[in-house]
This record gives sequence, structure tokens and C-alpha cells, in this order.
Amino acid sequence: MHENIQFFQAFLKNPLKVGAIAPSSGELTQKMVDGIKPTVNSVILELGVGTGAFTKRIQEITPNKDSYLGIELDKDLIKSLRTKFPDMRFMCGNACKSFALHKRSKLGKVDYIVCGIPFVTLPNDVGDKILLEIEKFMDQG
Ligand SMILES: C[S@@+](CC[C@H](N)C(=O)[O-])C[C@H]1O[C@@H](n2cnc3c(N)ncnc32)[C@H](O)[C@@H]1O
Repeated sequence: MHENIQFFQAFLKNPLKVGAIAPSSGELTQKMVDGIKPTVNSVILELGVGTGAFTKRIQEITPNKDSYLGIELDKDLIKSLRTKFPDMRFMCGNACKSFALHKRSKLGKVDYIVCGIPFVTLPNDVGDKILLEIEKFMDQG
């Protein structure tokens, strides 16, 4: 199925959680991924993967399968992400629990977080929980 149609279907199913009617553009994707310099010992964590607009670009710079973890709430999107990116690791789950999900994945230290979560359309308390989770990955100072 075409990516835009799949994204729009996900939006119709859950407009506030998806928060957009189409995937991010190539220009935005480039801006989001610019500056990421992954190493074999670190992990890029992507929250709110959608149809994988950022993932496509991240895949080009990811050293191996253990250097990436994508967390997405929608199980239909997860199913198609696993088909589209067989060498990337995805977990179906809530970004509010990303620290525990990453721990369960047994992957290495997270050095980069790429976040596609639509904070504007989510309830404030959910947004706050996700930001607190992100903080847990931060090094002291
Ligand atoms: C605006 S879309 C962005 C998708 C993609 N990153 C892009 O830029 O095209 C937001 C995505 O975040 C997912 N999402 C929303 N809340 C989430 C949560 N609490 N945990 C994990 N994923 C979530 C939605 O299902 C949707 O796929």
C-alpha cells in the first residue's frame, strides 16, 4: 500500500495520536537526521515512527541492526515497518514507557533520540510523561 494512504488510514483511526495527515517531507527528514553521527556502540532511538519517513534516512547511516530501536504505538504500522525495514528493530509500545522498552530490548546505550510524536495534539499529561522518559536517557549534566 502507498505510504501516504497508509498514513492517512492511521490518522483516520486515531487522529489525535497520529497528529498529521501525511508523513514528514524529505526536507524535514533531512533536518531531523542531520548531525547524527552514530557509532557501533550507540543506539538511535526513534519515537513515533509512523510509516518510517525518518527511518528510511536513519537506515542509511545506521551501522548495524543493534544500533537502532523504533517505538510506535500503532500495531498495523509496526507490522508494515517490520516488512519494509527487515534490518531495523521495532517495538510496538507507548513512548511513555520508552525507558523500560529500551531496557527490555537489551540494546546498548542510547546516544540519539529522534522524536516524531505529535505533542501539539496529545493531552499535556501524555506529552509530559514522554518528556520525562526522554530525560531518563540523558547523561548527567
Ligand atoms: C505525526 S506521526 C509522525 C510519523 C513519522 N515520524 C513522520 O515524521 O512521518 C506521529 C506518530 O507517533 C505515533 N505515536 C503517537 N503517540 C505515541 C506514543 N505515545 N508512543 C508511541 N508512538 C506514538 C503515532 O501512532 C504516529 O505514527
